[in-house]
Amino acid sequence: MSTLSTAIIGCGVIGRTHVDAVLQLADRLTLTALVDVSRDRADALAAVVEERTGSRPAVFSTVQDLVAAGAPQLVVVATPSGLHVEQAVAALEAGAHVLIEKPLDVDLVRARRLAAAADAAAARGQVCSVISQHRFDPSSRIVHEAIAAGSFGRVTSGVATVPWWRSQAYYDSGDWRGTWALDGGGALMNQGVHTVDLLLWFLGRPVSVSAEIALLAHEGVEVEDTAVATVTFDSGALAVLHATTAAYPGLGVRLQVMGSEGSAVISRDALEYIHIKEGDGADMGLQGSGNQADRYAAGSASEVDATQFVDGHIRQYDDLLAAIDEHREPLLTVDAALLALAAVRAVYVSAVLGRKVLIDDVIAGEYDDLVLEVPSIEVPAV
Ligand SMILES: NC(=O)c1ccc[n+]([C@@H]2O[C@H](COP(=O)([O-])OP(=O)(O)OC[C@H]3O[C@@H](n4cnc5c(N)ncnc54)[C@H](O)[C@@H]3O)[C@@H](O)[C@H]2O)c1
Repeated sequence: MSTLSTAIIGCGVIGRTHVDAVLQLADRLTLTALVDVSRDRADALAAVVEERTGSRPAVFSTVQDLVAAGAPQLVVVATPSGLHVEQAVAALEAGAHVLIEKPLDVDLVRARRLAAAADAAAARGQVCSVISQHRFDPSSRIVHEAIAAGSFGRVTSGVATVPWWRSQAYYDSGDWRGTWALDGGGALMNQGVHTVDLLLWFLGRPVSVSAEIALLAHEGVEVEDTAVATVTFDSGALAVLHATTAAYPGLGVRLQVMGSEGSAVISRDALEYIHIKEGDGADMGLQGSGNQADRYAAGSASEVDATQFVDGHIRQYDDLLAAIDEHREPLLTVDAALLALAAVRAVYVSAVLGRKVLIDDVIAGEYDDLVLEVPSIEVPAV
């Protein structure tokens, strides 16, 4: 089988992960070009590729230069979040399949433009997908399959927490970090969107959001470092969402899904607990005992802990390549990524307006012109 020529736009932190993934998929993909406004970064990464493969990818400064030289078959967008749509649309219009880093973008006007461009490209046989690599974790797949099979009965609630730490130096490491224009938000948009996507994948379509956001442990940052929200779903389920980059030294992401006949806990990407009802069960339930997680060996902590960070991306590339081969949608569609983006935006809109907001109104564009800011509060000195 011939390989797909592949270009990566953005040679920063996650661009290097994509290089690693593409090189590991050498039987399907050939890295032919790297793009970055920083020539030094692109050249440095091209040298790494040459050292590993013996062949040096071409280097460009802009997506326009890339496509002018002849578009590759697959373009990966790994630049600051607020640039994703502009670059993805240029690649789709040049005829490439496109894989976009999360989040889809920071702005729903642009996100809708991409959804339209992706639909038009799909009609031409092109696939466009957005990274949400934790959907491919064995633990996530087990929980999703259990819910889809009805094994949890009625899913009643979820609790998702992303209690991370990012230092001031992290926010200072790139001009775009911590800005509304290019990061699109803070702890929830950048670090938490993976978990938001999983929560929606498990609980279904969100209806409304009530939220608070705050900036508590960083300076010179426009966006929130702490967000809390309650979310309602059209199934009737309720969820609590928490994301922070102000939790030193950083704890593990934890996602609990609870239903009338089963519950599960994913902790640090591993299936920590799952119980699906067998027989009648006691009136008061099992109170957290009866863990069946070791029946699902593929989702056990040891298996997930053994994986490398790049493995999640490789699993998503596998899905993208299968979608191309089989002329089907990828698991992570632009519409799914747009819904996760809208849910995060709804948190910000609710926090700014101080009231509950409907996700459908956010998607329809009612708040497109709202200026987002973290409500200022008097924070006592520590
Ligand atoms: N999936 C994940 O787990 C994950 C992890 C980290 C980052 N990300 C996402 O990846 C994206 C990039 O994050 P990062 O941490 O790699 O950022 P980064 O700052 O390390 O890298 C971004 C790169 O893009 C380049 N760039 C900026 N403007 C450009 C332009 N107009 N054209 C071409 N190149 C340009 C910069 O020079 C830089 O090299 C963000 O959207 C982020 O949310 C995803």
